[in-house]
Amino acid sequence: PTGLLSDALARPLQDLRISVTDRCNFRCVYCMPKDVFDKDYAFLPHSSLLSFEEITRVAKIFVAHGVRKIRLTGGEPLLRKNVEKLIAMLGDLRTPDGESLDLTLTTNASLLARKARALKDAGLRRVTVSLDALDETTFRRMNDVDFPVADVLAGIDAAHKAGLGPIKINMVVKGGMNDQEILPMARHFKGSPFILRFIEYMDVGASNGWRMDEVVPSSEVVRRINAEMPLEEIEPNYTGETAERWRYKDGGGEIGLISSVTRAFCQDCSRARLSTEGKLYTCLFATAGHDLRALLRAGRSDEEISTAVAHLWRARSDRYSELRTANTEGLQRPVKKVEMSYIGG
Ligand code: GTP
Ligand code: 5AD
Ligand code: SF4
Ligand code: SF4
Repeated sequence: PTGLLSDALARPLQDLRISVTDRCNFRCVYCMPKDVFDKDYAFLPHSSLLSFEEITRVAKIFVAHGVRKIRLTGGEPLLRKNVEKLIAMLGDLRTPDGESLDLTLTTNASLLARKARALKDAGLRRVTVSLDALDETTFRRMNDVDFPVADVLAGIDAAHKAGLGPIKINMVVKGGMNDQEILPMARHFKGSPFILRFIEYMDVGASNGWRMDEVVPSSEVVRRINAEMPLEEIEPNYTGETAERWRYKDGGGEIGLISSVTRAFCQDCSRARLSTEGKLYTCLFATAGHDLRALLRAGRSDEEISTAVAHLWRARSDRYSELRTANTEGLQRPVKKVEMSYIGG
């Protein structure tokens, strides 16, 4: 049953995204720009991170409150040592009706070819892979560490062979950087087992220098693809899905459009985020989190932590993207939004 917990805008808690590391081996221009995340950047020390036991304990409490999907993120989650051990621990959790979780992970695929099999064996259900271009020069300019396209494609292939599907491919579109890759990406993944999703470049965090004129609206993405490969919109899989789904009229499969800038989806947002160091964020754009680690390490009981979580969720009224859409020009940007690599995408 859904709706075990409802927030101030009547949104249930269904989805928990856990950042397992704030580190990444990529420096994507829209996420961890090199000039900020340089060799002097202070990443979290190991003692700050939640342990696997702590993460699992928190996750269990969230599952009891109605969470049915857990996504591991980062940073790059596969950089967290022995992450498959955590996956096995989370895989043992059951919802109140005895179901196992939709356990998934978002990765840049740099380590996926090597790890796909072990992840599957540990109980991971599926993966989502970030890939911003097929053109070598463009992709290297986006990841900014000279990582080759072929290795990402090999990772996707390995995950597919290991049975980690349905696999989604996330492409963040940054105008003037990789929008010329929209059509090549669409052509490449059309008719494949993979679902390509175009993501509007967001003003998340405080270091990517976001500008509205670098956002390519999803309507423009659809227009360009539709002109060559006709599309029609289809129904969402579930309420609160981030992506709008479109399918090729010729049966070539579907794509997704994630339009958090031009068509905000806060209305049904059922996502909570647990940061690398155990703070609970009720919105991707929140400026502060609630310190669950402090409760864990102060020896509070599960019941006390559960009550605290319920309290926080019931009070939740975040809808940043909607407010931004309502007033893109005038909105005062909060001073200290947290970075996506820390809070988890
Ligand atoms: P599925 O479980 O496969 O439906 O995945 P998902 O829709 O949760 O998508 P995923 O985790 O791959 O998220 C894709 C991207 O959507 C993220 O990397 C973000 O860019 C964006 N996104 C996800 N959740 C939110 C959210 O709550 N708010 C906003 N503004 N953007 C989000
Ligand atoms: N805008 C949109 N999506 C972003 N991501 C990170 N930064 C941004 C941003 N500024 C998302 C992408 C990527 C995932 C790891 O995080 O979807 O695939
Ligand atoms: Fe790393 Fe993903 Fe951020 Fe790129 S988008 S820097 S791969 S966490
Ligand atoms: Fe949810 Fe905040 Fe994203 Fe809106 S902006 S969809 S409330 S996380």
